[in-house]
Amino acid sequence: MDKRVIDLRSDTVTRYSSGMKDAMMRAEVGDDVLGDDPTVLLFERRMAELLGKEEALYVVSGTMANLLAVISQTKPGDEVLLDRNSHIFNYEAAGSAVIGGLQLHPFDGIGGFLPVDELPSAVRPDNFHYPHTSLVCVENTHNRGGGAIYPFDAMKEVSSFAAEYNLRLHLDGARLANAVVATGIPFSEWAELADSVNICFSKGLGAPVGSVLVSDAETIKRARDWRKRLGGGWRQAGLLAAACLYAIDNNVERLAEDHTKASRIAEVIEADPRFKLVYQIETNIVIFEVVDDSIVIDDFIDKLALEGVLCLHFGGRKIRMVTHMDISFDDINYFEKTFSGI
Ligand SMILES: Cc1ncc(COP(=O)(O)O)c(C=O)c1O
Repeated sequence: MDKRVIDLRSDTVTRYSSGMKDAMMRAEVGDDVLGDDPTVLLFERRMAELLGKEEALYVVSGTMANLLAVISQTKPGDEVLLDRNSHIFNYEAAGSAVIGGLQLHPFDGIGGFLPVDELPSAVRPDNFHYPHTSLVCVENTHNRGGGAIYPFDAMKEVSSFAAEYNLRLHLDGARLANAVVATGIPFSEWAELADSVNICFSKGLGAPVGSVLVSDAETIKRARDWRKRLGGGWRQAGLLAAACLYAIDNNVERLAEDHTKASRIAEVIEADPRFKLVYQIETNIVIFEVVDDSIVIDDFIDKLALEGVLCLHFGGRKIRMVTHMDISFDDINYFEKTFSGI
């Protein structure tokens, strides 16, 4: 019998289901660079409608969607306000600085959310000494914030601030679907608060590749130019867009199961005195700290791996586990029985 592997390193590790594979195999394709891949066009139209925006652009990754959003709504020398723990600030290889010539202004938010009271004084005066503040970025759900959902009212406040100061607002909604399912607040209501939104399909939604950027027509036109410039124009991309269409039809509501699984993992961790949960569970991400000083984190992760449980060292004494569609409830039962003995 094959050894059981419970891969909790990320929700990006999912393999496409047979239904998704069939949808990909059936996809009608064209040449997306020439603008005639029917499945890409259908997917982009569908996402623009779902989010209530004018247009959408299908791209290879969340990193690319964020980069295109940021550089399409700013100019070199501008400043971007964002949270210090955001994905854009930490994990996107400084793309906005390197490609966009931008200065990022990070805030120490609470649980990954911007301290809205501090934002107005960060907007630079209109004077040639300063960078020009032009964009605010928020993240929902928040990866380093343990999958936390941006409180809707708090996001409304950020949105009002951005409007008042004439700044653009980008929502990194790589896992926005998780927030939609957990809160019941539809995609369009979240998107209405922002000028542009990135949604990833290769995370909890289970597609092999791709993210979508939605915004107004002018921003998407600029993003499309930038995508080409960066070598991100792709040809028969409908093969992959078909997987995303399948995901939006079949894999959104089921994210609630992933949230239940994360809560069950968190209960096991909370009951174990060697560990302490860093954040309460709101969606599918569990971040906990190893408080027993005798434990060497990487040794512990190796021991877990020997039992088939894979997870990530998440900096300092923290470990991250992420649930997704390829983790079954039976896997969670196994985790519950095994974890405390390791
Ligand atoms: C919040 C957030 N934004 C953006 C990304 C980037 O996505 P990708 O890995 O597809 O570039 C990730 C990836 O984990 C993420 O967690």
